[in-house]
Amino acid sequence: MRVDRFLSNLPRFNRQQVRLLLVERRVSVDGVAVSDPHHEVRAFSRVCVDDEVLQAGKPARYFMLHKPQGCVSATSDPHHPTVLDLLDESDKGELHIAGRLDFNTTGLMLITNDGQWSRRLTQPQTKLPKVYLVETEQAIGPEYAIAFAKGLYFAFEDLTTQPAELELLGPTTARLSIVEGRYHQVKRMFGHFDNKVIGLHRERMGPLVLDASLAPGEYRPLTEDEIRQV
Ligand code: URA
Repeated sequence: MRVDRFLSNLPRFNRQQVRLLLVERRVSVDGVAVSDPHHEVRAFSRVCVDDEVLQAGKPARYFMLHKPQGCVSATSDPHHPTVLDLLDESDKGELHIAGRLDFNTTGLMLITNDGQWSRRLTQPQTKLPKVYLVETEQAIGPEYAIAFAKGLYFAFEDLTTQPAELELLGPTTARLSIVEGRYHQVKRMFGHFDNKVIGLHRERMGPLVLDASLAPGEYRPLTEDEIRQV
């Protein structure tokens, strides 16, 4: 939210007072004086007027997990372990998953409490590639790459998928890059050819690659550099 809106939403300041506070450089966001009314205030920002704290801000948290098979991409589930059960962290209720994976899909899972950051990763408009290794029951024909590049019609959502890139690695293995994350998207794309996906692993989301040193079930915080790249 813009800082001028953030301040005028508080009962104590009207718009005129907010303009004045900004011009007089009495407002600081994360320790830096701001005068631009468009300056962005987020849930994690610390906002002060003079020495008074108006919003304390929370630390943003970002984790990369190697999702194993047999766990659910949800924050709670009555029957199965969830990916959050694998994290030894406090306040897990604040965290959410940026891009779910199916129960038996393995690979890169990003977990954060920063909604703007995760939206940038997952929104189809940002066109960040999500890269999967796929293993299928039957041979993958040359017609698959052509159809995936054109886009497939998904009747349930009444949409055509964005162009996707398929690289054949073997008769029944391929690397697929898609820019959106529709429900069971990869399985449905291969399902178009009646070819069942029997193994699915996410290698990459945008600039972030699964750390090869993480075994299934292991996780680590993202580095400052990784967080900035998104
Ligand atoms: N597409 C699928 O079908 N399943 C996943 O887990 C991810 C993408």
